[in-house]
Amino acid sequence: MKPAVEIFPQTPHIDAMANTIVPPPWRIPESAVTPESVHRNRRRFLRDLGFGAAGTLALASAGNGYSQSAVPSTAAGTNAAGTGRYPARRNPDFDPKWKLSDEKTAATYNNYYEFSTQKDRVHRLVDGFVITPWPVEIYGLCEKPWKGDLNELIAEFGLEERIYRFRCVEAWAMIVPWTGFPLAKLLEKVVPKSDAKFVRFETVARPTQMPAYTRLVSNGYPLPYNEGLRIDEAMHPLTLVATGIYGKALPKQHGAPARLVVPWKYGYKSIKSIVKIELISRQPATLWETLAPDEYPFESNVNPTVPHPRWSQATERMIDTGDRVPTQPYNGYGEAVAKLYKKS
Ligand code: MTE
Repeated sequence: MKPAVEIFPQTPHIDAMANTIVPPPWRIPESAVTPESVHRNRRRFLRDLGFGAAGTLALASAGNGYSQSAVPSTAAGTNAAGTGRYPARRNPDFDPKWKLSDEKTAATYNNYYEFSTQKDRVHRLVDGFVITPWPVEIYGLCEKPWKGDLNELIAEFGLEERIYRFRCVEAWAMIVPWTGFPLAKLLEKVVPKSDAKFVRFETVARPTQMPAYTRLVSNGYPLPYNEGLRIDEAMHPLTLVATGIYGKALPKQHGAPARLVVPWKYGYKSIKSIVKIELISRQPATLWETLAPDEYPFESNVNPTVPHPRWSQATERMIDTGDRVPTQPYNGYGEAVAKLYKKS
């Protein structure tokens, strides 16, 4: 059923308009110019990872540290859980020295429909969302299904920090330091069976703590929010279970206490507040694909040459500076992931 609430109603229209108004050649900001030394280092770590020479992303000459005080300390939605775990060690293999997006902007411009469809309101509505304890279940086509608390997984796998680009289907983007562990570690723990071809993820269903939940359901949204990946996408070393951002536990509006981050796909694949992970043999029906298959297909790799039916995907707007930059195929991670999509 087509929902009565408009799907991704806000930014796209503005962005779509901007895409029309701002003609090529694209204005690449000063900060996007890659200093040679950074470029060389980056090539080295990407090469070590098998990423090859992916030198096309916006790099900054400035360091990529973040200020511990930059996050609104009074901000609704800050997450006290995990004290002592953050900041985690930054993994040098994922430290491309990009200039980070502003932390406060990222924390106050969120897509979390269960709370609100207005990005600037989500962070004000998350206070009543309870995230401790956080039971997680991994089940389905695996030898060792697992049920327990998120904290046990964090204790087992440890945490690391990685700097990733993040690209929403609405044509906005940010560069953020996530903290988490590779999803592959969790999947290896449960030992997938050979017929496990897909992984399905589900967000917690808390109508009483999520103010927009009931309205969304009555408007035809098939909640709980769910998403899916192919097993090879889920096992890819870039796919992260994030529990923190900017050196702290995830604020609730970012999907506390644990969310997915799949940096080469549009942001809606990066499902928040995960409680269930199921290994299955067939491609699952996902929330956005069910609502609008032409607009939000299952695969949803970032691709500047395939416009969304209602707006261009050729460029993106950085959420904090407003700079409009060209969109990269696979969000710049092509050297690492394009091989997953080679037709044999
Ligand atoms: N997960 C849930 N459960 N609900 C949502 O509405 N929105 C998705 C994704 N995960 C969403 C979700 C979309 S569209 C985007 S772009 C990102 O979360 C936004 O993540 P951020 O708010 O941390 O930037």
